[in-house]
Amino acid sequence: MKILMVCLGNICRSPLAEGIMQKKIEDQGLDWQVDSAGTSGWHQGELPDPRSIEKAQQHGLDITYQRSRQLLSSDLEDFDLILAMDTSNYNNIKKLDSENIHSDKIKMILNFVYPNENRSVPDPYYDNGFQRVYDMLDQATEAILNQYS
Ligand code: 4NP
Repeated sequence: MKILMVCLGNICRSPLAEGIMQKKIEDQGLDWQVDSAGTSGWHQGELPDPRSIEKAQQHGLDITYQRSRQLLSSDLEDFDLILAMDTSNYNNIKKLDSENIHSDKIKMILNFVYPNENRSVPDPYYDNGFQRVYDMLDQATEAILNQYS
């Protein structure tokens, strides 16, 4: 299973999602891969936001190996699950799938917790809501593991 976590900047939400999922994969000894990307390239090459790094550290996770990168069309081929943090990310991912051949693997991450509700993980960049985001992503990644492992 190859999972790609996607947000806007790939510095706040999706790096946390990647780090949380990576830890669960290692803990369970699964042969899965996880990566993350942003629909924008605004922070290309940068470390995760210091607030995401700190929140991860508080939960025993090191995400400082990660560097921001922009989502590529080829990611739609390379990954089995492409998980959007919010509806804007979802719509931008779908735009890359112009022939609609990958739609089954593009999903809203919180639909694993709240099926069919299309809830968004709120962007913590401006409101500092990193703990709330962490808790949502911890729940969602747990549900994904339960569903596919
Ligand atoms: P992310 O948060 O999409 O969770 O990484 C953001 C990061 C940067 C910006 C917006 C959201 N920005 O405007 O630069």
